[in-house]
Amino acid sequence: MERVSNYLVIGSGIAGLSFALRAAKTGTVTVITKKEAAESSTNYAQGGIATVWSGEDTFESHIEDTHRAGAGLCHPDVVDLVVRDAPARIKELIAWGVRFTRRSGMREYDLGREGGHSRRRIFHAKDLTGREVERALLEQARRNPRIKLHENHAAINLITRQRLEGFDPHGTDEALGAYVLDQETGRIHTCIADATILATGGVGKVYLYTSNPDIATGDGIAMAYRAGATIANMEFVQFHPTCLYHPHAKSFLISEAVRGEGAVLLNRAGKRFMQGVHPMAELAPRDIVARAIDSELKRTGEDCVYLDITRKGASFIRERFPNIHETCLSFGIDMTKEAIPVVPAAHYLCGGVRTDLDGETDIRRLFAVGECACTGLHGANRLASNSLLEALVYSARAVRRTNELYIGKPRPRLRVPKWEPGKAQESDEAVVVSHNWDEIRRMMWNYVGIVRSNKRLSRALDRIELLKREISEYYWNFKVTGDLLELRNICTVAELIVRCAMQRKESRGLHTTIDYPYLDDEHGRKDTLIRRERF
Ligand code: FAD
Ligand code: SIN
Repeated sequence: MERVSNYLVIGSGIAGLSFALRAAKTGTVTVITKKEAAESSTNYAQGGIATVWSGEDTFESHIEDTHRAGAGLCHPDVVDLVVRDAPARIKELIAWGVRFTRRSGMREYDLGREGGHSRRRIFHAKDLTGREVERALLEQARRNPRIKLHENHAAINLITRQRLEGFDPHGTDEALGAYVLDQETGRIHTCIADATILATGGVGKVYLYTSNPDIATGDGIAMAYRAGATIANMEFVQFHPTCLYHPHAKSFLISEAVRGEGAVLLNRAGKRFMQGVHPMAELAPRDIVARAIDSELKRTGEDCVYLDITRKGASFIRERFPNIHETCLSFGIDMTKEAIPVVPAAHYLCGGVRTDLDGETDIRRLFAVGECACTGLHGANRLASNSLLEALVYSARAVRRTNELYIGKPRPRLRVPKWEPGKAQESDEAVVVSHNWDEIRRMMWNYVGIVRSNKRLSRALDRIELLKREISEYYWNFKVTGDLLELRNICTVAELIVRCAMQRKESRGLHTTIDYPYLDDEHGRKDTLIRRERF
């Protein structure tokens, strides 16, 4: 693979690919991705992308909905720029070949509705929006001679000036690239670039139940933290209210768009329970719906609640939600005739690597875009379908910034050593990895879930400290593998979530704790920041 390029992009979801396509206009781009290129959260996105499009909608309304969902923590300048840039980004996707659903027999696009939105403003490709976006972006990237895409290549660690020259807590650091594991050959490459872009997605796999695919292990956040970047708001993990409840379904998502089209939530007795909870009932922001389901399950002792859209009729359901309909049928559930059993599951991380308005982190030449970033857009709770949008807006801004500052300018002249394997041997106890994985995910689900407490957070941290020591010993003694890298990263991410949750002494948005059950605007209306003090 290329040792040097202008841009090193880590990740091939919407953030990484949209960045690469624009960056290729001004430089050479190396994209690495740890599995097959399409395997990303992007590929599974269902509902769509929020944008003000219809004449009845306004930017002010989308801005207000974003702030309302974000529970007082969204950064106003960020919300403003993202919402106003959205129509241009949608047009760009269409130019790249994304085929959004149009209203039947018409040229106009069909705009969907989701929780927390006061208008219909969601661009979608039926209920397979992510697959369509990923298809189009990958097709474009594969055709572009300046983009080299490497599958099964996992970034291990970032290479920074301070890593080479020594830690300086007061100096500004800069990124030079990353060490990358070729998972097929076991070789470790040293990749150098003018700008390094983290587009590694979310952290869902840190929880036992999640809507996320297996790649979502927080690698970019863990790498950035190890390198000394500031990480923000990790306590705000969004639980999607409605994942299919079935022993073999591996948390398949039932899109919020189903509620947007009129589905209601019922308990086992067939009674709606959202009406008394929020004026928007089933279309309240996600944190409120997920908490209401959690409390309903605790109150009744049942395993799941039910989502009923049968009143919309079979032909509408099959046409609007073909993927959800087919998948439910494969598990023996006909959503045209019966309610779907659902439970909440970890879905999205609102926190991540803190960036400025152009996606740059506090390590120069290191950018974070998409779900691994914390830009300030989502605050304490993300509004539905604002995530794909944020990735598009910020990848455009990051390309502009890299062009202004780094491309075509001299890069730092430093000798970067090859990866040093030391005395590492082949692993003889893969069971340690799988056991620890399981333990972290179960512990996070039980102790750091939808409703938290001081006692459970402390217990979780004690366990994490023990696991960290065990994993670190394993990491230094055995050859790196993809599984071991991911285990180390989810352990770091688990620790960051717990430490941020311990810092926040109030309940706000997605962070609810029984010890501080109120909103404390005097002390709590600020981001939670965490940074490693030394290497
Ligand atoms: P991803 O799309 O997850 O891509 C991350 C990439 O990084 C992958 O290619 C991965 O392999 C790679 N990677 C990770 N670590 C490494 C490493 N160490 N080395 C190399 N490569 C690495 N949001 C919306 O706005 N609308 C929706 O309708 C919607 N629906 C969703 C439905 C589901 C089921 C899920 C899971 C999420 C949904 N979301 C939705 C959220 C949204 O899909 C994600 O936030 C978004 O796709 C993230 O894009 P990304 O490019 O940042 O990361
Ligand atoms: C969904 O379709 O419900 C997911 C939308 C999102 O996560 O934004």
